[in-house]
Amino acid sequence: MEKFTPIYRIWHWLMAFSVLGLLATVLLRKTFLSWRSNSEIIQVQLAQLGSDITAHSAQVVAKAIRAPMWEWHYIFAVVLGLSIALRLYMVLSRQVELPILSIKKAEGVHKLKAITHTLLCLSVAIMAVGGTLLYFSDFLGFSKSAADTIKDFHEFMMKPLILFVVMHLAGVLRHEFVTKEGIVSKMIHGER
Ligand code: HEM
Ligand code: HEM
Repeated sequence: MEKFTPIYRIWHWLMAFSVLGLLATVLLRKTFLSWRSNSEIIQVQLAQLGSDITAHSAQVVAKAIRAPMWEWHYIFAVVLGLSIALRLYMVLSRQVELPILSIKKAEGVHKLKAITHTLLCLSVAIMAVGGTLLYFSDFLGFSKSAADTIKDFHEFMMKPLILFVVMHLAGVLRHEFVTKEGIVSKMIHGER
C-alpha cells in the first residue's frame, strides 16, 4: 500500500500549514505588532509632531492596528480544525492508527519518531481545545479569571509544541540528508 496516501498528505500539509501559520501570527503579535512597543512609538511620534495622546488611547490605536493580523489566528485555527476532523475520520475509517499505538510496535530510532509524533499530535490537540474554549469563553459563560487561566495555559503550551515541531523537523532533515530516503518528496508526491 502507498505509505503516504493522498488523504494522508492533504491532512499532513493542512496541519503543517495551519500550525506554522498560527505560530507566525504569535510571532508578529509579540514583535512588529506588539501593542506595548507600538503604543510607545505612537506616543513618541505624536509628541514630536506637537500632538498629545494618552497612554490608554495610544494602546487602543496600537491594538486596532494589530487586529486585522490577529484575525489570521482564527482563520488558521479553522484550517487546523479541518485537519483534525480529517485525521479523526482517517482513524475512525481505520486508514491510520492513533500515533500512540505505533510507539509499542516501533523499535530503535523509530520509537523516538513515534514518541515525537504522538507528543506533537497531543500538543496540537491541546492547543486546539484550549484555543476553542478561549474563543468561545464569553458564549460558554466563563469568568474573567477562568478565561485568563485558559489563556495562560494556551500560551504556556506553545513552548512544548515548538519543541516537538523542532524535533519533528530535525527528524525530517535527518531522513532527508543522512538516511537519504527522499521522505519530503514522498510526503509531497506520495510515492512508496
Ligand atoms: C508545524 C508543522 C508540522 C506538523 C505539526 C507536522 C506533523 C506531523 C505529524 C503528526 C506526523 C506523523 C503522522 C503520523 O503519525 O501518521 C508527520 C509526519 C511527517 N512529516 Fe510533518 N509536520 C509538520 C511539518 C512538516 C514539514 C515542514 C515537513 C517537511 C519539510 C514534514 C514532513 C513530514 C514527513 C516526511 C512525515 C512522515 C514521517 C514518516 O512517517 O516517516 N512535516 N508530521
Ligand atoms: C498551534 C496552535 C496555536 C498556537 C501556537 C497558539 C498560540 C497562542 C498564543 C501564544 C496566544 C497568546 C497571545 C498573547 O496574549 O500574547 C494565543 C491566544 C489566543 N488563541 Fe491561540 N494558538 C493556537 C491555536 C489556537 C486555536 C486553534 C484557537 C481557536 C480559535 C486559538 C484561539 C486563541 C484565542 C481566542 C486567543 C486569545 C486572544 C486574545 O486574548 O486576544 N488559538 N494563542
